[in-house]
Amino acid sequence: MLTGKHILLGITGGIAAYKTANLASMLAKLHADVHVIMTKNAQKIISPVVFEALTGNRVVDDVFARDSGYQVAHIAMAQEADVVMIAPASANMIAKLANGIADDMLSTTMLAVTAPVYIVPAMNTHMLEHAATQSNIEKLRSYGCHIVEPASGFLACGDTGKGKMPEADVLLEYLLYEAACPKDLAGKKVLITAGPTTEAIDPVRFISNHSTGKMGYALAKNAVRRGAQVTLVSGPVHLPAPAGVRMIPVTTAQEMYEAVDTHFDRQDIVVMSAAVADYRPKDIAEEKIKKSDAAVMLELERTKDILGSMSARKNGQFLCGFSMETEHMLENSRAKLEKKHLDMIVANNLRMEGAGFGTDTNIITMITKDQVRELPKMSKEAAAHAIFDQIVTFL
Ligand code: CTP
Repeated sequence: MLTGKHILLGITGGIAAYKTANLASMLAKLHADVHVIMTKNAQKIISPVVFEALTGNRVVDDVFARDSGYQVAHIAMAQEADVVMIAPASANMIAKLANGIADDMLSTTMLAVTAPVYIVPAMNTHMLEHAATQSNIEKLRSYGCHIVEPASGFLACGDTGKGKMPEADVLLEYLLYEAACPKDLAGKKVLITAGPTTEAIDPVRFISNHSTGKMGYALAKNAVRRGAQVTLVSGPVHLPAPAGVRMIPVTTAQEMYEAVDTHFDRQDIVVMSAAVADYRPKDIAEEKIKKSDAAVMLELERTKDILGSMSARKNGQFLCGFSMETEHMLENSRAKLEKKHLDMIVANNLRMEGAGFGTDTNIITMITKDQVRELPKMSKEAAAHAIFDQIVTFL
């Protein structure tokens, strides 16, 4: 996902530097070319050897080092970067950058950077809230740097409060936003449905399915990275809300229908990946429930076909559905594509290992009027990327 991208990580002397090792590892696994500059204090906390092993590149810490591999290291490293992140950024480094001081490798390089810069302050709450630090952070913001909001919690110094460095997966998302995709959905509005829906039988039991929402959430993240304005209508799942997405949590198919119905007209692209429960219990009189076992006397009715209803009032939107099939995947999916007038249907064969509910991978086939594209097993993130790569060709 990051092949050919140069990511420059700056590391200063904060305990959270150990989390940056995790970030470097994640970036390397996504095939980024990761370069690291450490301050002298950072090296007292974590060895540069860790980053050299993870990235395969020499850590640079000295403007005058003769073994950096560069002609003029601070200029070359600044210029080749597609995105820069300083994590953790100490109060001292923030003060230096805010005032243009260039007295070590990192601060000197930063003066020559023209790529997007993310500063991740991490320190004790009082140091963070000090007027000097706050005004330096504001200055950096005014220079166009992105400031990643510190998290709150138990700090290494023993205090509890604001100042924690966010976890590596959160930081990774900012870098992916900058570097992973072309902004080919800039200005587009994208609505995605995700997760299962549930229909209560009684106060304890419900009808639902095994959907975890992973595919839909991966689609939402990918659309954000491409610059879209994303609305995610999600059934009950155990996933954190993706950054930069407007979340609409729902429970039942009727609630999902209402949320989609409200926002549909304004969208450019609608991708319905939710596994909507097809049936719900018919209303049962209260006294009947008390007298007998509701499950035994359960009468079901179909839930509203959200995708079908939306396709009937399509008004220029690109409409993509999903289909979950256990047999005759191609024929059944094609029939759904035609019957519901979809622009694309993404088929999963539930019988294949590594596809469908609960897994981190998927095996998808993208079907349009004129084309069938079968993809190999891949992560749901990669599948989401492939789906939007396909969709943008139709815009
Ligand atoms: N879908 C929907 N509303 C429903 C059921 C499904 O909008 N009440 C959407 C799903 O989000 C998916 C597509 O319809 O994008 C196909 O879902 P699937 O369950 O495979 O197909 P169904 O239309 O329900 O048909 P069947 O279950 O008979 O295969």
